Amino acid sequence: MKKICPSILSADFSRLSDEILDVEKAGADIIHCDIMDGSFVPNISFGAKIVSDVNKITELPLDVHLMINNPEKYINDFYNAGADIISVHYENNYHLDRVVNQIKNLGIKAGVVINPATPVLLLEDILGAADIVLIMSVNPGFGGQRFITQSLKKISQLRSMIDKNNYGCVIEVDGGIGIENIKEVSEAGADMFVCGSSIFGSADRKKTIQILRENIL
Ligand code: DX5
Ligand code: ZN
Repeated sequence: MKKICPSILSADFSRLSDEILDVEKAGADIIHCDIMDGSFVPNISFGAKIVSDVNKITELPLDVHLMINNPEKYINDFYNAGADIISVHYENNYHLDRVVNQIKNLGIKAGVVINPATPVLLLEDILGAADIVLIMSVNPGFGGQRFITQSLKKISQLRSMIDKNNYGCVIEVDGGIGIENIKEVSEAGADMFVCGSSIFGSADRKKTIQILRENIL
C-alpha cells in the first residue's frame, strides 16, 4: 500500500506532541523526521533526542532522513531513538554499501537518498541492498520549496530499473508534494510520499490527507 509520510520539519515545534497526534489522527502512515547538520545541507534541524521523544508520543513508524555528514557515526543513536527506517544520502558517502548494511544489520529498513542533480543510474549497484530509494524532488535543506518536475522522469526511470530486475525496494519521494501534484508523482511510480508544508500548513489536515490518499489509489 502507498504511504503518506508527513515531515515534522513543517510542524510547530512548540506544540510538537499535539502536532504529531493531530496528523496521526488525520490518517498519516509514517512520521518523516528530517535531520540536518548545517554542513551537508545549509540548515540545522534536530537530533536523536527529539526523535526519541517523538517515538514516545506516536505509534506510527519513524522514517529518519539523515542530511548529515558522517552518517555512519550516528546510525546507532537514531536506531536507539526508535527509527524504523534510516536513509542516508548517496552524495556524501564513500562507503554507501557499508552504511546500508550497518543499518540493515540493526534489523530496520535502510534507505538511499539522491539529490535532484544525482542521476538514478548511479544507484544501479545498491538497488539490490536498499529497502527504500528516496528521490529528492527539491534541494534538501528546507521545507516549502517548489517540486522540481524533472524528478518525475527520475521516478519512472527508477521504477523501470526496479521492476526489470525484481528488486524489493520501494520508491519514496520528498519535497514539494501536495494535492496539486501527488497524482503525477504516484503515476510515475512512487510508493511513499513525504509531505511537509502541504499537510502541516493545511487548516484541515484530515481532509488534506484524505485528498492526498484518494489521488494515489
Ligand atoms: C527537505 C526535507 C523534506 C521537507 C519536505 O530537505 O527533506 O522532508 O521537509 O517539505 P515540503 O513538503 O514542504 O517540501
Ligand atoms: Zn526529508
